[in-house]
Amino acid sequence: MVLSANDKTNVKGLFGKIGGAIEDLGGEALDRLFLAYPQTKTYFPHFDLHQGSAQIKAHGKKVAAALVEACNHIDDIAGALSKLSDLHAQKLRVDPVNFKLLGHCFLVVVAAHHPSLLTPEVHASLDKFLCAVGNVLTAKYR
Ligand code: HEM
Repeated sequence: MVLSANDKTNVKGLFGKIGGAIEDLGGEALDRLFLAYPQTKTYFPHFDLHQGSAQIKAHGKKVAAALVEACNHIDDIAGALSKLSDLHAQKLRVDPVNFKLLGHCFLVVVAAHHPSLLTPEVHASLDKFLCAVGNVLTAKYR
């Protein structure tokens, strides 16, 4: 997934405007993931998966921080998320299909909280960015 210069500007602009509030969006995206696609819960047997649980919130912050890291290094997402890529592909072995589901949930949460920021162009760029992140995190399967 190749991000154009315009996509990069859109994603950076969006993240900049969301600011620190992005921390909570990660947890909300996970809540939606587990409710809308319960099969994803199988990767988290050790978590309290009730909506809004402390564990989901804490994990959501980590996921959001990784997205911020990817955005801050948007020209080298693979380098920025290299360790996470090892973790997801080699240790966790998350089926790649699930990254599309989480990406979708994140997009919905952004739309719900920041409808005016998510213009059709920004939507398209965010979608490409989330796809690029998913591709990086599933690049090392073997
Ligand atoms: C762990 C990010 C997608 C399952 C993590 C961690 C981060 C992260 C930052 C914590 C790593 C650490 O503690 O060192 C992301 C990002 C994703 C993504 C940015 C895509 C946008 C997924 C998906 C699944 C998944 C789709 C499965 C449905 C897990 C699991 C852990 C984990 C099971 C370990 C949780 C624990 O035991 O604490 N992820 N992740 N991830 N991720 Fe992901």
